[in-house]
Formats: sequence, C-alpha cells, structure tokens
Amino acid sequence: MKIYEYNISGLDLKNKLIFDCAIGAGEATFYWAKAIHDNGGTSRIVGFDKDLTAEDIEIIKDNLKQYCKYVEIKCADITDLHTYKSNSVDYINCDDTLVFLASTIGNIEAALKEFYRLLKPNGLLIINSEIPVLWGEDTYIQNQYRRWNLAKAIFSLKGAIWAIEPEKKSIVRILEDIGFLIDKEKEFDSKKQKNPIPCIEEWASIMKSEVKELNTSLKLKNSLLDEIEEIENNVREQGMACPGYYSLQCSKR
Ligand SMILES: C[S@@+](CC[C@H](N)C(=O)[O-])C[C@H]1O[C@@H](n2cnc3c(N)ncnc32)[C@H](O)[C@@H]1O
Repeated sequence: MKIYEYNISGLDLKNKLIFDCAIGAGEATFYWAKAIHDNGGTSRIVGFDKDLTAEDIEIIKDNLKQYCKYVEIKCADITDLHTYKSNSVDYINCDDTLVFLASTIGNIEAALKEFYRLLKPNGLLIINSEIPVLWGEDTYIQNQYRRWNLAKAIFSLKGAIWAIEPEKKSIVRILEDIGFLIDKEKEFDSKKQKNPIPCIEEWASIMKSEVKELNTSLKLKNSLLDEIEEIENNVREQGMACPGYYSLQCSKR
C-alpha cells in the first residue's frame, strides 16, 4: 500500500476540517482530496505553504484535477498559524516537511506545538518524514545519495542548511513532550522513482543558480556545476531512488 493510502485508510472523512502542512507540490493532498470525494465530499482541506508563487498554485490546482474543489491553498508559515482557532481542526497532514523545517533551530518544535493547539481533542496528526538514503551498489541509489548530499554541501558553502532528516526517535520524544500519543507507526522502504525527470530538472536548476551566487573561487564553482550536470545526466540514464519514510499517527490527548 502506498504511504498516502496507508495514512488515510480507516479515517472518518465525514464533515472534517483537515490542514495540510505543507502542501508543496500537492502530491499527498491529491490522495486526501480524492478520499474526501470518495466519502461523499463533506470535508475540506486547507493547504499551507510559505513559498508558493501564483504559478505554483495554478500547477497544484491542475494536478488536483476534479478534487480541487475540496482544497483551499494559503500562503502561511506553519510554525505560526495564530489566525486559526485552537481546538478547531480534525486532522493535520504533515508530509515530507519536517526535513525542511529542521534547517532552522526550533522550527520543528514550533510547528508541532502549533499543530497540537489547532487540533480538536482526539484530533489526529499524521507525519511522514524521510529516512536518509545510504550509499548502495545500485547506480540509481548512488544518484540520489550524490544529489541529496551535494545539495547539502552547496548550501553549507553559503552558510545555510538545505535539509536535515530528523530521526524518528527524536520526533517521537518531541511529540510526547508536547502531549501527543503515538497511535501508529510504520516504515516504508526506499524505492526507485517512477519518473525522476521533473524532480532532477528542478533540482539542477535550483542548484546551478545557488552555485552561481556562491562566494567561492571560479575553479570550485565550475567543479560544482560539472558535478550537478553529471548527476543530472546519470539520473536521466539510470534513474534515482526516492527515500524511505517513517509514518507516525498521533492523537491529541
Ligand atoms: C517536500 S515539500 C512537501 C511535499 C508535499 N506534502 C507534497 O505532497 O507534495 C516541503 C514543503 O514545505 C514547505 N515549507 C518548509 N518550511 C515551511 C514553513 N515554515 N511553513 C510553511 N511551509 C514550509 C516548503 O516550501 C516545501 O514546499
């Protein structure tokens, strides 16, 4: 079973308010919106993200297809949703976002506390978070390892952080300290991505512009640009792994 189907299976989706934190490309949102539709269409999703252009919103809406009517998209920082009422939300979906929140100290704790405040008593928080891909024999695994760690290195060169994969046990400790009960947990293995091309193209374009802005020698910049190009070409030829994930379903006491 796909992780999103696992996350949603067994949930009551009648008259529910669901927050999607963060919506990103809207991949998980699609499964939630479809499930709402299949259950009579009485629930709604508010999807948040802090970095959405008007063009991004149009692409997300297109991808949601006929299920778009169940989703409202808002530009907001999920570590501070103070304009939304406490005890008002039934479910919060937090898919593949902790890894980017972790780049700023305190962000994960702030977001999880905010989710606790927003949820109704017995409301559910569903988290999916990445497990780092380790070096392996298969070239598609090596491609993902090189892509991900090169991005981390490029961001380090400008004194910033690309992403950090928080360990499941650290997240469980924070959740329990806040007051959540962990109801369900499961791990999903890394696998070969079906269509890595849009992702690798977006990655290469972001990384090339980051490298051009770096305050380093031209020699290093050129080496980094060559490395980006080599990884992009390898992914086109050999593919790329998508990481494994852990899923945590937690309820507000
Ligand atoms: C990998 S994407 C999430 C994937 C998404 N769930 C999907 O199904 O496509 C991570 C998103 O988190 C967003 N993000 C990171 N920190 C955020 C914050 N503090 N508030 C809101 N969005 C944030 C990023 O802009 C990015 O779009």
